[in-house]
Formats: sequence, C-alpha cells, structure tokens
Amino acid sequence: MNTDAGFWCVVPAAGRGSRFGADLPKQYMLVAGKPLIQWTLERLAAHPRIAGILVTLAQSDPCWDAMGLRLDKPLLRVNGGNQRADSVLAGLRGLPESVADGDFVLVHDAARPCIHPGDIDDLVERGLEAGGALLAAPLRDTLKRAAEDSRVQETESRDHRWRAMTPQFFRRGELQSALESAQRRGVAISDEAMAMEQAGFRPMLVEGREDNIKVTTPADLAIAEYLLQRE
Ligand code: CTP
Ligand code: MG
Repeated sequence: MNTDAGFWCVVPAAGRGSRFGADLPKQYMLVAGKPLIQWTLERLAAHPRIAGILVTLAQSDPCWDAMGLRLDKPLLRVNGGNQRADSVLAGLRGLPESVADGDFVLVHDAARPCIHPGDIDDLVERGLEAGGALLAAPLRDTLKRAAEDSRVQETESRDHRWRAMTPQFFRRGELQSALESAQRRGVAISDEAMAMEQAGFRPMLVEGREDNIKVTTPADLAIAEYLLQRE
C-alpha cells in the first residue's frame, strides 16, 4: 500500500461552468489574485500525504498552458470527458503505473479551492480504516420537497442526510471498476461514492469543514475570495 509514499490526487477540471455563466470556465476565474484552480492545486500539493496530482482538462481548454503553473510535486494532465464521472475515469486511467490497483487515490474538484489540510488528514485516516470515504457535512437547513408548481409538497426530515463534498478517497482499481460499470449501465453518476455504493461498497462519511465550498455561481466566488483572503 502507498501509505508512506503518499497518495495521488485526481482533480477533475474539464467542466464548462455553465451555471457560473462567465466567458471562461469558472476554474480560471481570478480569486484573491490567482486563478481558482491554482489555489486548489497549490493547497493539494502542499499536503505532505499527497504524492502527485493529475488534472483532467477539456480538450479545448483555453487557459491551462498560459497559466504556466509549476508545483513542487509531479503534475500530470489528461483530457477529461463529457460528464464529471467521465473525467474522473479518464484521470484514473492516466495515473502512473506506479499507482497500483490496491492503492488509495483522492479525487478532488478543481472548484473547491478552500480545502483545508486537516480535512485531508481526517479523510485519509478514516478512509484507510474504512476501505473508502468521502468528506461530507450534515444537512443544516430545513428540507422541502417541491411540487411541480413550486409550492411545498412536504417537509422532509433532515436526520441522517449529508451533503457530499470532495476530496473522496477510494482504491484506484475498485473506483475505476465502479465507474466503468456505471458507464456501461448508462447510469449518471454524480460523485465517486455513488459509483462505489452501486458496486456494493459502503463509503464512510467523514465530517468536513463547512467552508470547503464548491464554487458554482458568482456568489460562491465572492465567498471563496473572502475565505481565502482571511487565511
Ligand atoms: N468537471 C469535469 N468534467 C466534466 C464536468 C465537470 O472535470 N465534464 C469538473 C469541473 O471542472 C469541476 C468539478 O468537475 O471542477 C465539479 O463540477 P461542477 O461544479 O459541476 O463544474 P462544471 O460542470 O464546470 O459547472 P456546471 O455544472 O455549472 O456547468
Ligand atoms: Mg457540472
């Protein structure tokens, strides 16, 4: 197992940012003086348990080369796919051969720049024990189910409901098979844990910091800027 050498991290960054609605993909928006993806990658690379990073980029990526990013850890790039799960699968396939099937890998969205080292420590520690884990946060808001006309149909219990975040932490081979199986069955997969669940695994929910936000809209970018400037 690769516990001493550290773990590779796959970073899907091939999205278009359609909900963000800017001219460039949101991962290249400037936040506190740097492209958002640079914050994410520098934070990952600074973590002692991360051995290397593989980013998946859109084939027509407009910005990566111009950014000229250098990290003090190995940094690989491959082309992503149409859906996030396709990009993650492409990333797993592109990892160096030194990453064995039984080795654990992290998957972390480029769009989560505020990842904190302590969360990675917790995820790795609990994930190694549990055979796979993800960062998540218990739901805090009251949950409403909407009817077709946007009126409340009912209020649902918040108990035992969590919001899944990244990083997620699984064995390379198991995750790759789980994603391939979902792809063959034509099931839309929204995160790694979902693919693992469908393959019969029971990923461990590890409570992470609420400020590990995903930048989806311009309002999120403003929050990320605030958080990153404070640190
Ligand atoms: N991603 C990817 N390949 C895709 C789609 C998404 O690598 N085909 C990446 C995004 O770049 C992002 C992460 O997966 O870092 C999470 O996806 P999301 O927040 O949904 O980003 P986008 O898909 O770019 O945004 P949107 O859904 O609003 O278009
Ligand atoms: Mg998306």
